[in-house]
Amino acid sequence: MLNSVFKKNLEQKDKNMKKKEFIKCSDFNLSNMVWDLAIVGCGYWGKNIVRVFSELRNENIFLGDIILFDVNQDRAKELSNLYKFNLAQSFEEILINKKISSVLIITPSSTHYSLSKRALEAGKNVFVEKPFTLDSNKAKELIKLAKEMDLTLMVGMIFRFHQGLLELKKRLDLGEFGKILFMYGTKFGYSVPNEDAGVIFTLAINDFDIYCFLTGTEYPETISANRGSFLREDLEEITSICLTYPENIHGYFIESWLVPVFDRHRMMYLVGTNKTAVIDYLKPNEIDIYDAKIKKEILDDRMLFKMEKNPMQKVILDFKEPLKEEMKHFITCVTNKEKSFSDGIVGYRAVKMCELALKSAKLGKKIIVKDEIG
Ligand SMILES: NC(=O)c1ccc[n+]([C@@H]2O[C@H](COP(=O)([O-])OP(=O)(O)OC[C@H]3O[C@@H](n4cnc5c(N)ncnc54)[C@H](O)[C@@H]3O)[C@@H](O)[C@H]2O)c1
Repeated sequence: MLNSVFKKNLEQKDKNMKKKEFIKCSDFNLSNMVWDLAIVGCGYWGKNIVRVFSELRNENIFLGDIILFDVNQDRAKELSNLYKFNLAQSFEEILINKKISSVLIITPSSTHYSLSKRALEAGKNVFVEKPFTLDSNKAKELIKLAKEMDLTLMVGMIFRFHQGLLELKKRLDLGEFGKILFMYGTKFGYSVPNEDAGVIFTLAINDFDIYCFLTGTEYPETISANRGSFLREDLEEITSICLTYPENIHGYFIESWLVPVFDRHRMMYLVGTNKTAVIDYLKPNEIDIYDAKIKKEILDDRMLFKMEKNPMQKVILDFKEPLKEEMKHFITCVTNKEKSFSDGIVGYRAVKMCELALKSAKLGKKIIVKDEIG
């Protein structure tokens, strides 16, 4: 069994090498490179990914075959009828199909590790949804395996493809906002809880990543978290988290899926010394920028505060669906053998921060991150 896996891996490596040579000696054009992929998991989120691949195929950006699989075969069949994609009867069938170079894993969080591991061992490039795994040690193991196999491993951190956030990051780096004072975010909705993960691993995981991305850090310095579980003992339905970063930057967020007020509510505020940005994540091409600051002045040995406030500027960017950008990035990484900017390490750090938040909530104390990451 091991021998046959090893042989398949070698064959895949050989195939990848050939692909590399081809890329070296030709002008890169996505539509020239044809490889097949499988989408595993056709539930709520998988449906969106399948729809995006149908659009990418219609736009000639992805020309390979698309094979769908779900343990609930009716779900996969419904999408296969709708988009005219092929079906696999089992995960094994995907693993042994040599034409399939990549597997997208959009299944419940607790299955991510084992499905990703099997796919990598079979020589497939992997895109796996967040949370990468529910255990950071397992995430490390998958990163090592992908490296040994020379395969692309990308983790779905969709906010890294949000045009508003990317524009904000660009403007922050150019100094437009001055120094970041704090960031504050809320994510509320009303939905049936995930069966295998609480809001920290499903919602807060994105905010850990976003705040590190915006501050240009790998981790915050400290994490303090609270969590509330009302429906089940072990998995939380609400969390409030406070992070601190170097230079006295603070990050706060509160998330829950028990709020029946909004359909979905996803907001972020970044307050800087010069300007403040407000992003509604559901509008990926907009940022509201407030040019407002409070200045200190000393007058006759007294400290006075002066407020300056100009009209709000609405920045409208070209519309690009984050999920589509994310899928295009995966196609590019596989085709070009490029490193993803949402790779296993990014996914690992996000998982590690979730674990530390859960530890903080359990112990009721602030976690000093450097004491935990070695
Ligand atoms: N990036 C985002 O914004 C975003 C949004 C929602 C969900 N997600 C992630 O996507 C993943 C799926 O979430 P969902 O909301 O679609 O869940 P879901 O329960 O609606 O769908 C999961 C599907 O996977 C199938 N499945 C379960 N085990 C399987 C297996 N071993 N092999 C094949 N199929 C299997 C189920 O039958 C189901 O159809 C989760 O990891 C979640 O965190 C990401």
